[in-house]
Amino acid sequence: MPRRKPTRLLQVSDCHLARDPASTYRDQNADANLDRLMEPAQRWAPDLLVLTGDLSEDASIGSYCRIRDWARRIECPVAWIPGNHDDRDLMAPVFDDAGFDSGPVIDAGAWQLALLDSVWPNDPGGELDETRLAPLAELDRDCHAGIFVHHQPIPVGAAWIDKVGMRSAERLWAGVRELPSARFIAFGHVHQRFRQRVDGIDCLACPSTAANSLPATPRFTHGETTPMARWFVLGETGFRSGYLAA
Ligand SMILES: [Fe+2]
Ligand SMILES: [Fe+2]
Repeated sequence: MPRRKPTRLLQVSDCHLARDPASTYRDQNADANLDRLMEPAQRWAPDLLVLTGDLSEDASIGSYCRIRDWARRIECPVAWIPGNHDDRDLMAPVFDDAGFDSGPVIDAGAWQLALLDSVWPNDPGGELDETRLAPLAELDRDCHAGIFVHHQPIPVGAAWIDKVGMRSAERLWAGVRELPSARFIAFGHVHQRFRQRVDGIDCLACPSTAANSLPATPRFTHGETTPMARWFVLGETGFRSGYLAA
């Protein structure tokens, strides 16, 4: 049987663009920092770009249009989920018109990816109920499975963001245990580097393109100012992943 080509995936998260492109987010200009990632992202040449929420700081249409325009310049298919700063009803028309995919299940060579929406109105924390977990049951058990969700499914050791993590995360973990093909859960929201293996599943944070904290600190702690994304190579026998920095 011919080998399938690995899928090069780029995860971009927590861009926090505001209506006014000149405004600051945690002492950083979010637009300028996102632009700093353009060249490394183009050089990485992904087959698929996955945006994992908090794309906007204020759910303004202008910010969604600027994210759309940035993503188009990567010149590959784009998939997305919202974050707690986003408004799905406002972002969806902008992204739908651009042909961006919100899944909830996406084919990627030897892999299938589930895009789970953990966001609830006026709630910085997240949660997955039975309906939001339903895409897991649609996954082809003969493919490796990767899960993308905005909120962290386990604490990352940073109180400032763990207090608004994923409530009732055991529901997700119960679903993952019934899915022997599951390989990783990738998320945003935490604005820091993080990787930990739990029950054979890699839990992988995508740092923010706008502003990141030093890892595992009680308060958001400046010191990691480089805009970052996360890359994946999804192959027939497994995957590799790491950070893409500007
Ligand atoms: Fe964020
Ligand atoms: Fe968030």
